[in-house]
Amino acid sequence: MGTASADIGVIGLGTMGANLALNIAEKGFTVAVYNRTVAKAHALKSDNPELAENILPAGTLQDFVASLKSPRRVLFMVPAGPLVDEEMEKVSPLLSDGDVMIDAGNADFNDTVRRSKAVEGTGLHFVGMGVSGGELGARHGPSIMVGGAEHTYGTLQPILEKIAAQYKGEPCVAWLGPDGAGHFVKTLHNGIEYADMQMIAEIYGIMRDGLGLQPDRMADIFRDWNTRGLASYLIEITAVNLAEKDPDTDKPMVELITDEAGQKGTGRWAVIEAQKLGVGATTIEAAVSARGVSARRDERIAAARVYEAVKTEPAEFAGDEDGLAELEAALETAKIIAYAQGYATMASASEEFAWNLPLGTIAEIWRAGCIIRSHFLDDIAKAYEGGAKVVNLLQSPAFVGRVSKGQAALRKVVASASLAGIPVPALSAALAYFDDYRRPRGTTNLTQAQRDLFGGHTFHRLDKDGVFHHHWPAV
Ligand code: 6PG
Repeated sequence: MGTASADIGVIGLGTMGANLALNIAEKGFTVAVYNRTVAKAHALKSDNPELAENILPAGTLQDFVASLKSPRRVLFMVPAGPLVDEEMEKVSPLLSDGDVMIDAGNADFNDTVRRSKAVEGTGLHFVGMGVSGGELGARHGPSIMVGGAEHTYGTLQPILEKIAAQYKGEPCVAWLGPDGAGHFVKTLHNGIEYADMQMIAEIYGIMRDGLGLQPDRMADIFRDWNTRGLASYLIEITAVNLAEKDPDTDKPMVELITDEAGQKGTGRWAVIEAQKLGVGATTIEAAVSARGVSARRDERIAAARVYEAVKTEPAEFAGDEDGLAELEAALETAKIIAYAQGYATMASASEEFAWNLPLGTIAEIWRAGCIIRSHFLDDIAKAYEGGAKVVNLLQSPAFVGRVSKGQAALRKVVASASLAGIPVPALSAALAYFDDYRRPRGTTNLTQAQRDLFGGHTFHRLDKDGVFHHHWPAV
């Protein structure tokens, strides 16, 4: 057994774990690595000779733990779910007071809360850490969302600040709150990611089916959009996706890919948590549902035959500069609304779980490294500057002007798409939310009347204080 010289250990050398370990090694830390298939740990060292002196592969968990400096920091990067519990059960008996276990996978924050409780009083510490940025992010700088005890974060901070993405010299990592806070924020990051991706796909659908544009031309348009308000990683990769040709057929790659989206669950969790909190995250919900509908391809093909006779209006989109500017403005406006929903969900969770989530900081650490990185997040960070109380981003002075101006374009795009039979579930959910949210007199007075009639659920009145029940005529 060698001396305890590693600054941190990584268990699980799949794509994310291996790249994170290399990132840690490159930043000058010594990283112990362990994988169930031991050969992977040795291969990580031999395949990366330039970093080899900072990589310590271990053949057994005992050797792995023994190679870690105290307090030991053990980072798990294994698939979310029961595997995390299994690995923790194996490692924790080998650890001592003050050692830290970090789950850096895409965990359900409810599991993170449970795991945090389970280690309480054992002398060990547990951190639930969201890591975003995919493979490249893990290798060269991800955005890192940390949940756990603040003092435990202190023992990780020097390493995390070095390996995180940097935005204008600021590391994209922060301690966000106790137990499940980090994984909750990562879940909402992914929910927003789903909404962003779905809305981009809907605009692509309008370009394809409403304007008849070819992918090459679309790539140019997205490249152009990436120079202004929408500038973001997702818009940038969309242009790359659209421009790519299949080497076998020379056809646009995107046209050869089946329209069936996969999902691993984090977007769905975002929606479930928003529902539990009673927050309308309808754009995210539409994006998650759209993936579900897309995956039922055979069913859709059959339904298309059933409804073949349905007549729609000819698409009314202008392919000129004005028309494209309208699409751009619609996407930008819907994006603000989607983020407002994501932030409202985090604000509500923060209250519900007494986390005191630093919403401005979350925007700051999302400006680089993560999948939804964009300049737009800097605008959100500014909306929270100086501890500004933001009820909902749609009421923030930072966005009121932009939404007031852009809503007409969103309205036109949603209306034209609906008439032409081009589905825009996320864009229209954003518009409906906006209209609902800014409506002083809604229609749930009727809902309340119905509830009171069939269940005696009572209601409040506009003209009198108190709780009322009305004796409705018998039905
Ligand atoms: C990230 C990504 C990453 C991954 C998700 C999305 O922030 O780096 O969100 O976590 O891409 O797993 O997965 P699905 O689209 O498969 O749900």
